[in-house]
Amino acid sequence: MENHITDTSQDLAQLQLDLIKKRKSTVAFSEQEVTKDQLNQLFEAARWAASCFNEQPWRFIVAQKSQEGLFEKVLNGINEHNQVWAKNAPVLMLTFAKKTFAKNEKPNMHYMHDLGLAVGNMSAQATAMSLYLHQMAGIVRENIQKDFDIPEDYEIVSGIALGYKLDIENVPEEFKLRETKERTRKSLNEIVFDEAWGESSFKN
Ligand SMILES: Cc1cc2nc3c(=O)[nH]c(=O)nc-3n(C[C@H](O)[C@H](O)[C@H](O)COP(=O)(O)O)c2cc1C
Repeated sequence: MENHITDTSQDLAQLQLDLIKKRKSTVAFSEQEVTKDQLNQLFEAARWAASCFNEQPWRFIVAQKSQEGLFEKVLNGINEHNQVWAKNAPVLMLTFAKKTFAKNEKPNMHYMHDLGLAVGNMSAQATAMSLYLHQMAGIVRENIQKDFDIPEDYEIVSGIALGYKLDIENVPEEFKLRETKERTRKSLNEIVFDEAWGESSFKN
């Protein structure tokens, strides 16, 4: 039987928003392991994302630290600037997206969009599990192509570090400033318009 969530109370809506705001791109990962069951749950969240024509263009390569050779190979696909902190995460991923539709091989204009939705789902699920993702555009595509022989029709998109976050008192000095920096966002009236482009009745 399908499991319907019927509680649409304010509490649930507020909890969801709190979780969305709690997410952050940490650079201070704890050594605590993330289990295969937890990874399964995260990928299950990603799998249920919406996508254009239900193409589901997202693909992932994932390595746990215990898979030493594989972990090193994935780390090799991440640039030096990001490796400094990403190497401490217990899980590293690479993301890919199929550029054409399987049914007719026509270009899929929304492959990046849909991968983003899947990673967004994963990210929200991670926060509910007290885990944190840090996405990285800073990757080394040549290394990933060489090490994993990615099929031509797939874009190599990003890296992701995943794990638990260190409590602030345990964050190494080199990461402290970055980890405690205030997170900011554009205001609603800069991004949501109604009567005309640039005009907004929204405020936060
Ligand atoms: C597609 C994408 C690529 C990113 N690339 C990097 C990166 O290479 N290195 C990095 O340190 N952070 C990277 N970030 C993290 C952003 O800098 C971060 O999301 C942004 O500053 C907002 O901070 P927050 O995620 O903590 O809210 C990336 C985020 C996304 C979504």
